[in-house]
Amino acid sequence: MAGGWLGPRKPLVIAHDAEKGLRKTLSWPHLIALGVGAIVGTGIYTLTGVGADRAGPAVILAFAIAGAVCACAALAYAEMATLIPTAGSAYTYTYSVLGETLAWIVGWSLILEYSLACSTVAVGWSGYLVGWIQSLGVELPALLLAGPHAGGIVNLPAVLVSLGVAGMLIAGTRESATFNIILVAIKLTALTAFVVLAMPDFDTDKFTPFMPYGFGSHVEGGATRGVMAAAAIVFFAFYGFDAVATSAEEAKNPGRDLTIGIIGSMAVCTLIYMLVAIAAIGSVSYLDIGRSAEPLAFVLRTLDHPFAAWAIGLAALIALPSVILVMMYGQSRIFFVMARDGLLPRFLSKVSPRSGAPTTITMVTGIFVALVAGFFRLDEIAELANAGTLIAFIAVAVCMMVLRRRAPELKRVFRCPAPFVVGTLAVVGCLYLLASLPTHTLTRFALWNVVGVLFYLAYGRTRSVAARLRSTVG
Ligand code: ALA
Repeated sequence: MAGGWLGPRKPLVIAHDAEKGLRKTLSWPHLIALGVGAIVGTGIYTLTGVGADRAGPAVILAFAIAGAVCACAALAYAEMATLIPTAGSAYTYTYSVLGETLAWIVGWSLILEYSLACSTVAVGWSGYLVGWIQSLGVELPALLLAGPHAGGIVNLPAVLVSLGVAGMLIAGTRESATFNIILVAIKLTALTAFVVLAMPDFDTDKFTPFMPYGFGSHVEGGATRGVMAAAAIVFFAFYGFDAVATSAEEAKNPGRDLTIGIIGSMAVCTLIYMLVAIAAIGSVSYLDIGRSAEPLAFVLRTLDHPFAAWAIGLAALIALPSVILVMMYGQSRIFFVMARDGLLPRFLSKVSPRSGAPTTITMVTGIFVALVAGFFRLDEIAELANAGTLIAFIAVAVCMMVLRRRAPELKRVFRCPAPFVVGTLAVVGCLYLLASLPTHTLTRFALWNVVGVLFYLAYGRTRSVAARLRSTVG
């Protein structure tokens, strides 16, 4: 086991050594469907409103910036995922390329990414559920629909959907490819219908002023504002594409299919997001959209399309839990691999013999996700999830570039085009987005990492499989 001052490094498990047996059944349309299925969720359905509040009509630009940064990170991700196709994604790549210490930080960040992304989608789902039920004329007890920050006690629907999805995972539920296609169709039909119905009310005057709060992220009137502040939050709308990257070994022609699959799903999502944002902002004032917990349904209701508002709410209610499912599954895999490596207690990686699911860890995750969703604000949760994701993306881009220098001879199934340009753009873009997050988010993220590093020093550093191997050899 190699290593340096950043801790031991795992040996590289190269694609063609590891996964000889996987059948090559997927081509680019499947991969685009997979990507769009994992990507489209609360980001566009709910955070469009938060983004509009921060950037005004220029939220459209915010979507374009976040999409471009994600596309660069996605290309680096695809190269790494095809080269090191073992579970654990960014954490595993970092362990092999940069060493255990940084891998721990990335893994600890991924825990934040996946679990808080689940909480964010749960709160977004709750917003649509409440709006949907109320549009049917049913009044619900307000104290149970929001956390203390909004005058309630707990966001009960968000708690229930989090626990419900955790229960499904514990029972061994996985999303099938056919089910994914159905959900993608529902989500895209709803968003297309939204654009078609909102466009007739489009008014260019609504885009003036285009950037009422300027470009850079700053505090204004007690809130974080600016195009970059919006980009740092709507960035949430783009992740989930790792689902495409990790299917690389099953692609019929990975070099071609993966490029089209990743760039294609990014392009499809960016295009749809921008169209939805243009239609929403062009038809209803961004000031009103920014205040709604279910902005797309709100726009349609305001434009006097009550049935369409009801239907888009229903589409969100049906489709969003699958995004939680994919993310919570990813979370359990990260925990699982970190526990198997000895960096977390081993009991966390125990798998139920009946369902094959890591039961304990899924239960712990489900409860954590539910508590956060029940008591915290949507934008604050999403921002913290984004901070974790940005660290993981930076790590993947760095790993891709380091490995190009260190081991240029490795046969890469997928090669990132112009790797040092794309990799550098990904790193710089992610750093800029990270710096555009509000100070309180960065402080909380730093605290999370302080706890993580202390835990590593007290536990993982001496108990990891790599550390034990080293002491046995030594
Ligand atoms: N990109 C996913 C969403 O927007 C996480 O819900």
